[in-house]
Amino acid sequence: MKASERHLRSYAPYDLLVFRGPKEEYGKGSHWVVGDGHGYAEVILMQDSDAIHPDTFYIEHIVIKEPERGNGYGRALYLKVEEFARNVGAGWMQIDSEQEAVGFWRKMGYTELDRVFYKDKTAMVKRL
Ligand SMILES: CC(C)(COP(=O)(O)OP(=O)(O)OC[C@H]1O[C@@H](n2cnc3c(N)ncnc32)[C@H](O)[C@@H]1OP(=O)(O)O)[C@@H](O)C(=O)NCCC(=O)NCCS
Repeated sequence: MKASERHLRSYAPYDLLVFRGPKEEYGKGSHWVVGDGHGYAEVILMQDSDAIHPDTFYIEHIVIKEPERGNGYGRALYLKVEEFARNVGAGWMQIDSEQEAVGFWRKMGYTELDRVFYKDKTAMVKRL
């Protein structure tokens, strides 16, 4: 894929590269891999039947390169992912957080649910 082609999604924020995922035609169940120079995320526009709320955007992973953590890049990448989510019609965000990352998600505005979907992970949501 040419670098210029990675941007060819009208719904992707300008500086968020889309490495994999549908082009203009997408729907519930669509999956993308997006990133910037510091990290990447795997995300899904969930099927309503799989989500706690309708129109939920699910973050499967978000990872910043290890030596670059703690410098604000996680927040910056997350905010681009949130803009992406709004652009594809999401009204809610949902994640299953590693225990060590719960504090990060709280800072991003998420709250914990009292439901467990994956053992050893904390389900969290945010309304957009
Ligand atoms: C979690 C992760 C994406 C955060 O990225 P980062 O670049 O280190 O985070 P930032 O520097 O942008 O931090 C933003 C804020 O969150 C806080 N924060 C970051 N990681 C945190 C953590 N693990 N626990 C508590 N707070 C955290 C920061 O202190 C900062 O707070 P501030 O704005 O009050 O200063 C990164 O540490 C990472 O890739 N971790 C390994 C993979 C992982 O756990 N991903 C999440 C899976 S659910």
